[in-house]
Amino acid sequence: MALENKVAIVTGGNSGIGEAIVLELARQGARIVIDYLFDPAMTETIEKQITKLGGQSIGVEADVSKLADLQKLADAAVSRFGRLDIMVNNAGIETRTSILDTTEAQYDKVMDVNLKSAFFGTQIAASQMIKQGGGGRIINITSVHEDWPMPGNTAYCLAKGGMRMLTRTAGLELAPHKILVVGVGPGAVATPINLSTMNDPAKLAHLDAAIPLGRMARPEEIASVVGFLAGDGASYLTATTIFADGGIMHSSIGL
Ligand code: BGC
Repeated sequence: MALENKVAIVTGGNSGIGEAIVLELARQGARIVIDYLFDPAMTETIEKQITKLGGQSIGVEADVSKLADLQKLADAAVSRFGRLDIMVNNAGIETRTSILDTTEAQYDKVMDVNLKSAFFGTQIAASQMIKQGGGGRIINITSVHEDWPMPGNTAYCLAKGGMRMLTRTAGLELAPHKILVVGVGPGAVATPINLSTMNDPAKLAHLDAAIPLGRMARPEEIASVVGFLAGDGASYLTATTIFADGGIMHSSIGL
């Protein structure tokens, strides 16, 4: 199996894209630390699924906006599985509020959960990878909105734009250590973050019409990209973002 003997952490690993990434990496043989903040029962269900696949995983409750909790994830990887090879900074939230009425608390939360967690997740993971030697992979789940404005979701765009530069800058800084840093920029994916759109047929039709492939992605279609980026086939990719967006960033209704 491609990722046999590899150990991964996936933040926000018990729902949405994170859950699909956990299952994809496990299917490829990696042992996984599943970070979660809510719904321990869901984490247990995923752990059981992995056991059934013949894999190993451990759920760890951690708030990735706190450094001590990120360290707890790295410590769990090392104490339970002996090392850390793949860090997936996936946890993310959005408020879908305008710049005119986003509160300080909303702003701080969006920045902390999306960007601060990825910055310090990268720092903590890279420190462990350097200590053990042999390089590693850091994969930041960003969004098309790392580059493409989404009016009414400004704080989220700022955080994802920050992750874009984190990926590029950390990629350069960590290259001498053979630690590759890559972003994955999904478009619209059928996950809890998009429930309000998915539950509104008119909004969903509007969204589908804007996507050249005509539909939202399934979480597995993002996870498969992450699976590739964690493996040998992606050995020359760093400091860049792979967009998996069904073409939405380049779509146009025509003039
Ligand atoms: C956002 C969604 C949005 C999608 C496509 C994602 O990053 O979380 O709210 O629908 O991008 O615009």
